[in-house]
Amino acid sequence: MNVLLLGSGGREHALAWKMAASPLLTRLYASPGNPGIGRVAELVKLDVADHSAVAAFCQEKKIDLVVVGPEGPLVAGIADDLRAWGVRVFGPSKAAARLEGSKGFTKDLCAKFNIPTAAYGRFGDLSSAKAYVEETGAPIVIKADGLAAGKGVTVAMTLDEAIAALEACFDGSFGTAGAEVVVEEYLTGEEASFFCLCDGATALPFGTAQDHKRVGDGDTGPNTGGMGAYSPAPVMTPEMTERTMREIIEPTMRGMAELGAPFAGILFAGLMITDQGPKLIEYNTRFGDPECQVLMMRLKDDLLVLLNAAVDGQLAHMSIRWSDEAALTVVMAARGYPGTPEKGSVIRGLDQVEGEGVQVFHAGTAINGGALVANGGRVLNVTALGATVGEAQAKAYAALDRIDWPQGFCRHDIGWQAVAREKAGA
Ligand code: AMP
Ligand code: GLY
Repeated sequence: MNVLLLGSGGREHALAWKMAASPLLTRLYASPGNPGIGRVAELVKLDVADHSAVAAFCQEKKIDLVVVGPEGPLVAGIADDLRAWGVRVFGPSKAAARLEGSKGFTKDLCAKFNIPTAAYGRFGDLSSAKAYVEETGAPIVIKADGLAAGKGVTVAMTLDEAIAALEACFDGSFGTAGAEVVVEEYLTGEEASFFCLCDGATALPFGTAQDHKRVGDGDTGPNTGGMGAYSPAPVMTPEMTERTMREIIEPTMRGMAELGAPFAGILFAGLMITDQGPKLIEYNTRFGDPECQVLMMRLKDDLLVLLNAAVDGQLAHMSIRWSDEAALTVVMAARGYPGTPEKGSVIRGLDQVEGEGVQVFHAGTAINGGALVANGGRVLNVTALGATVGEAQAKAYAALDRIDWPQGFCRHDIGWQAVAREKAGA
């Protein structure tokens, strides 16, 4: 098979690495990719917003499957447009990608199909949103409706913070994404990322992970795209997984089919495990980054076989095998992230790092004058397998210590909840 992968992050490097191991693969192209992806794929420059140009490339190179990494192109309808040209695509239609593209759409779906989630209101103007917030009180959560590059959510502990967040949304801080706002009840519990591979009718559990969103050790400082992750998530016991499938995922699949927008692709449920059980925080319609990196380390099956089955509506009779080992990834970011990261510093020593059960996935890297340099906020994902989360953590940090990049930083406590649990149980 010839495959075109769209995207350039650590998520896409992990997908490329796993697809490259498939006997089904003939040629892998990636656009725009990054130097790590370039080790296993031919990098091509395509304008991803120009769907007919992407389709023309697919026809010229006889592409059998397009795998879309990030949400932006999906919400813009790239899967529909490529399919109209006869190109097979792994990723949801524009209508199905509303699960990520509009928080209000997802909340209404939850209300209609009885899916457990935080109580909410949807607002198109500041004064009615303010009135609701004043009546409900803090803590409360304010969300720009549309895609806001992970920055549209404010967990407001005080009324003042909540009102400032509403004002920012309606002032246009998030562009059109904030023209509508969802205000929701503050949930407490432990968070988990839950993935399902979906073919429109069937959803198959596709692993669990826990992410670390805050930039600083001890979960302090501003939110980021994710500073590290591990899999599996201990809180997702078999019982919790079964409840999540029955109470959240299956009604979503039925609901989307009923609305004429069956979901095919990766459904990523951000969950809060509360005293009453799992509640949906949000959906994403793509793999998580960096969650994908730990899932790919643990996946035993051929990723291309599974993606093909999802595209062809053949998941009902499939099962998926995972390594019993835990995987953990530590993000190395460029100084300044999540604000403005410093670009251009040279990264050395990566060739001495990878080995049995250790992979370094590239995110924001580039080649400059023959040297590998930082070219974004999140730059490298140092990823390891181990018998326990603690062992994977020790291996990942030992590998990271061998990387020579003084301008990079990382969190030093990725996996702390799971490691504490392991220590308590030991
Ligand atoms: P998001 O940017 O949508 O991933 O949300 C960022 C983070 O905000 C989530 O990972 C949660 O930690 C938090 N969050 C979102 N909604 C709620 C809620 N209803 N209650 C408590 N925390 C929330
Ligand atoms: N790591 C969270 C996300 O990919 O949205």
